[in-house]
Amino acid sequence: MKEQLELIQKNALAALEAAETPAALEELRVKLLGKKGELTAVLKLMGKLSPEERPVMGQMANTVRATIEAKLEERKAAINAAVLEAKLAAESIDVTIPGDNVQLGHQHPMNMVLQEIKDIFVGMGYTVVDGPEVELASYNFTRLNIEEGHPSRDRSDTFYFDDNDEVLLRTQTSSMQIRFMENNQPPLCMLAPGRVFRKDEADATHSPMFHQIEGLVVAEHITMGDLKGALITIMNKIYGHDAQVRFRPHHFPFTEPSCEMDMQCHKCHGTGEVDGQVCSTCHGEGWIELLGAGMVHPEVLRNCGIDPEKYSGFAFGIGLERTAMGRLKITDLRLIFDNDVRFLNQF
Ligand code: DAH
Repeated sequence: MKEQLELIQKNALAALEAAETPAALEELRVKLLGKKGELTAVLKLMGKLSPEERPVMGQMANTVRATIEAKLEERKAAINAAVLEAKLAAESIDVTIPGDNVQLGHQHPMNMVLQEIKDIFVGMGYTVVDGPEVELASYNFTRLNIEEGHPSRDRSDTFYFDDNDEVLLRTQTSSMQIRFMENNQPPLCMLAPGRVFRKDEADATHSPMFHQIEGLVVAEHITMGDLKGALITIMNKIYGHDAQVRFRPHHFPFTEPSCEMDMQCHKCHGTGEVDGQVCSTCHGEGWIELLGAGMVHPEVLRNCGIDPEKYSGFAFGIGLERTAMGRLKITDLRLIFDNDVRFLNQF
């Protein structure tokens, strides 16, 4: 029996030492110490021993049980520690690793150019103002000397909100001329950038929504020479001194005389052709229309309570997208509105 107990202890200690998981330990505990365990089986044989041997074996059996229990506890602690350590290692966070970079955006290219233009005008003494996009026909047309029946008032050109054609999405920032002169007396210098809306199909140089920058200067003795000087100065600041621009006579109901200013096409450099094909940016013109301008019509001044005998003024309306196209060498206006980040990231 003594040998049996010694064998149980020896095997038990070896098995416990080899166990590596809490589940394996539990299995061993049942096998060794449980009711149907090996030790219990040996103790059941105690009755067959002599009275002298019984206490000795009893004591030995207790020692074996205690030894196994102690080993069991020791292994349990060791395995739990190992399990914890493995878990900590697997879940550890290295706080010294640099984090993911936050991708910061930047100003939209069109707004970059707008900001440049605003800075130039502010430097020349202009006041920058904002106005409503939902506008009354009286500001957008009538008081600008655009009479009833003028083609630009047509429902096929203008987005109206009502059946009487009185409320609309402004088709031009020129409405801001009236709004500004209503509330300010000359001498005045105004710049009004903003969105305008027309029923236009989109192509390389057109979009149903685009931006204009309206300018207005009214004071005594203002001439067409002042207008040309101001526009050329501005174009030189935006495009550099070798900018190729041209003035063409034109007609606008709210200016007299009127003109348009074109910029040489930056894609075909004025030839109208690229690789033997008609230039898709300027449609073969060689020039891109940038703005309309002129001397404020006396009727418009009168409509705002300003005496045209005493004051004169000039006005202009710049197309912002087209100006940005030339400034940033963009060949299709639609790219400006698509907002594809691969495009935007280039600026
Ligand atoms: N509003 C005109 C347009 O949208 C552009 C324009 C022409 C504005 C002449 C002006 C101007 O201020 O004087 O076509």
